[in-house]
Amino acid sequence: MGSYLLIMSLCVFGCSFGESKLKFVTLLYRHGDRSPIKAYPTDPYQESAWPQGFGQLSQEGMQQHFELGQFLRKRYTGFLSELYMRYEIAVRSTDYDRTLMSAEANLAGLYPPNSSQAFHPGLKWQPIPVHTVPQSLERLLSFPLPNCPRYQQLMNMTEKTKIFLNVTRTYEDFMNMVRKNTGLDTVSIETVWRIYDTLFCEGKHGMVHPPWVTPEVMKTLSLLKNFCFQMMFGIYKREEKCRLQGGLLLDQIIKNFTVAAALNSTEKLKMIMYSAHDTTIVALQEALAVFNGLQPPYASCHIFELHQDDNMSFAVEMYYRNDSSVAEPYPISLPGCTQRCPLQDFIRLTSSVIPKNWMKECQITASFSDKDVVIGLAVCGSVLLLLVVLLLIVLCRQSEPAVGYTHVSNHSDDHS
Ligand SMILES: *[C@@H]1O[C@H](CO)[C@@H](O)[C@H](O)[C@H]1NC(C)=O
Ligand SMILES: *[C@@H]1O[C@H](CO)[C@@H](O)[C@H](O)[C@H]1NC(C)=O
Ligand SMILES: *[C@@H]1O[C@H](CO)[C@@H](O)[C@H](O)[C@H]1NC(C)=O
Ligand SMILES: *[C@@H]1O[C@H](CO)[C@@H](O)[C@H](O)[C@H]1NC(C)=O
Ligand SMILES: *[C@@H]1O[C@H](CO)[C@@H](O)[C@H](O)[C@H]1NC(C)=O
Ligand SMILES: *[C@@H]1O[C@H](CO)[C@@H](O)[C@H](O)[C@H]1NC(C)=O
Ligand SMILES: *[C@@H]1O[C@H](CO)[C@@H](O)[C@H](O)[C@H]1NC(C)=O
Repeated sequence: MGSYLLIMSLCVFGCSFGESKLKFVTLLYRHGDRSPIKAYPTDPYQESAWPQGFGQLSQEGMQQHFELGQFLRKRYTGFLSELYMRYEIAVRSTDYDRTLMSAEANLAGLYPPNSSQAFHPGLKWQPIPVHTVPQSLERLLSFPLPNCPRYQQLMNMTEKTKIFLNVTRTYEDFMNMVRKNTGLDTVSIETVWRIYDTLFCEGKHGMVHPPWVTPEVMKTLSLLKNFCFQMMFGIYKREEKCRLQGGLLLDQIIKNFTVAAALNSTEKLKMIMYSAHDTTIVALQEALAVFNGLQPPYASCHIFELHQDDNMSFAVEMYYRNDSSVAEPYPISLPGCTQRCPLQDFIRLTSSVIPKNWMKECQITASFSDKDVVIGLAVCGSVLLLLVVLLLIVLCRQSEPAVGYTHVSNHSDDHS
């Protein structure tokens, strides 16, 4: 028994006796420390106070991601090749300077070049590709996604819930105080996180706050900011909100697992790395129903590991590394499953937040009032009339020579 335990504890990855084998890893992390996104009107520290302006990764942020990269190198020694192999890892970032740079700093820690891969004496760095898409086309990593009326409607409905109204009422005076002191026209639960964020960044970089920003005020702002994060993807109709948001990312993550778990998979890819934002992590964790209610700190990393058992069955393990001073990342369990969750159960338990047809689900289903019915009838009537006219035109055209058709079909080709 004792020696068995010893072997078990020495065994990390790749053990083959009744043990599991790591097959695939997906990581989602937040960028590192940065300058604020914005200043408030009365802020003594405007954009010029920051060496690279607003929203940019700082040296500390680079260090945080370099450290995370080194942690990953250690954790996945024996799983990832020691040398960088282009087919083993795919990296995708949102199209922001700070997330792109975070991914690069992370990869510098993960893939210090060995002698054979070094290209400049004394430079312990090698280029690794980081992919992105323009923000206007980003549908995987940037939440909440725009152009989803049903989500907007759900957010409007969230604002009418007891819990939201209670928070608004409880902090009304506080919000007024913040509004006066910041010189903003309006301050709401939805926008107050920005003020917290700005003050937090300034404090972190040794900038002295104006007297109204007491530790007590920061505490309350932090509480409201966390509430805002919960509200975005939870609190009211969490599942439906998640179907329209984080479920899209979860869907892709599961699809990639399924590819890796295919019986005779020839997939060489071992790791997918996503570099994104706190809201991305919250959207994903709310979809998994594992969000802890706290804004993900800089360089937080949600880890998915796909393990293969001897009997060819697969299981998913999740971890959350939100604190680099804690040696091991926190194990995360999907509700209703063990921490090591069989892939089939993982898929079944998350199926309610995976959209079947995002476009369609984002549409608002009209509720029919009398007025709507009258309008509906009028529209139907016009459409019917139009159809009759079209039919007549087509019938007339049919009597024209065949050359006419060629012209018409060529014309429509130009537009497809
Ligand atoms: C990489 O370098 C280390 C130390 O410099 C060495 O121990 C190791 O064998 C090298 N690995 C490869 C694959 O070249
Ligand atoms: C949500 O509320 C805003 C502001 O009251 C309104 O302009 C918008 O039309 C509403 N959206 C939906 C989808 O209900
Ligand atoms: C309203 O919020 C306050 C402060 O968070 C809390 O103590 C109180 O129980 C809440 N009341 C209701 C009715 O939810
Ligand atoms: C992951 O799966 C998606 C959807 O099936 C696919 O489009 C994408 O190429 C996969 N990603 C990688 C890195 O293979
Ligand atoms: C595995 O390989 C066999 C034979 O090459 C093929 O018939 C089968 O479809 C493959 N299975 C999967 C899941 O790809
Ligand atoms: C990190 O996550 C764990 C698990 O959810 C939580 O207990 C802990 O408070 C979090 N720490 C930070 C710094 O957010
Ligand atoms: C495969 O083995 C694991 C543990 O090694 C066990 O938990 C699981 O139930 C087994 N699955 C099947 C389908 O036998």
